[in-house]
Amino acid sequence: MRIVIFNAKPYDHATFNAANTALDTPHDLSFLRPHLDAHTAVLAQGAEAVCAFVNDTLDVATLRALHGVGVRLILMRCAGFNNVDLAAATDLGLSIGRVPAYSPHAVAEHTVGLLLTLNRRLHRAYNRVREGNFELDGLMGFDLHGKVVGVVGTGRIGICAIRILAGFGCEVLAFDPFPSDAARAAGARYAPLPEVLGQSDVVTLHCPLTPDTHHLIGTAALAQMRRGALLINTSRGGLVDTRAVIVALKSSQLGGLAIDVYEEEGDLFFENLSDQVLQDDVFARLLTFPNVVITGHQAFFTREALDAIAQTTLANADAFQQGGAPLHPVTLDMVA
Ligand code: NAI
Repeated sequence: MRIVIFNAKPYDHATFNAANTALDTPHDLSFLRPHLDAHTAVLAQGAEAVCAFVNDTLDVATLRALHGVGVRLILMRCAGFNNVDLAAATDLGLSIGRVPAYSPHAVAEHTVGLLLTLNRRLHRAYNRVREGNFELDGLMGFDLHGKVVGVVGTGRIGICAIRILAGFGCEVLAFDPFPSDAARAAGARYAPLPEVLGQSDVVTLHCPLTPDTHHLIGTAALAQMRRGALLINTSRGGLVDTRAVIVALKSSQLGGLAIDVYEEEGDLFFENLSDQVLQDDVFARLLTFPNVVITGHQAFFTREALDAIAQTTLANADAFQQGGAPLHPVTLDMVA
């Protein structure tokens, strides 16, 4: 199958070529640097499938353009699919595949890395030591042992996070509309969301972004949280109302924020913008807080995860070629 891989970085070339050459019948892969959107979709002319990433734009205009040049399959090389207009894809008869789980450990481990960095001020300590400043003032954290951590969303990543946090000796409270025995076995106790928010010293988000979860953490939820609690988001930026978070940080209602995702990250992340003037004033304000740690959507970025992403993406293509549907399809009812 001819597959055009949009938004391809050097590491995508390496992992996809390795996974492809390991197949009995390799696919015909083309790697393109541009993001996928309504203007670039025409570059897929002649391909049956395109491969896209979290920061590509798969709105109705893009999907129509893809359909118009003959594309029938969209291979998302990520777990989330909130950037795909599923209703439009269904109307056009486009199949969509995704990679539901590549390494939940990668994301959970990064989550805990962010929590430790924020709590123990490692980001500030690193800079101080390089400047020859060995003062400890301002670097005090708290023991995680014995603290309450609220995990919102107890799927694959949430459960990995629960296991790690339980290992630290944290008491884990969890909220999920579909509680799981696996999360309980990992050490979590379920409670309603207001209780989780109100009792936790740290809240970490691991649920998907859907119309229901958009701005799940906004003014009301922030007011419900324990004063001075830390908020960690490695899931999707849109779960958090960033402007409300800035207000809560300024009043110290929120004690700190660590994020790997940002609601307007599409214009920022994955590119080197260091020579440019930052245009996003909300993001710029976040950068001014000493108690905010930001990484640029790298929680998934481990060797194991990238290998698994490439292998599962190509397995989706194989399944579509052989049976007319990807191995891990995305369907409209998944957001209903
Ligand atoms: P999953 O599908 O295994 O689990 C998601 C869980 O969230 C499910 O148990 C579901 O019932 C729950 N949920 C749904 N609505 C909820 C709500 N309103 N409140 C609380 N829980 C709710 O997904 P997985 O693999 O654990 O991934 C979670 C999220 O992590 C993904 O949706 C994705 O957005 C994000 N992610 C971020 C990455 C990164 O690099 N930063 C990489 C991979 C995923």
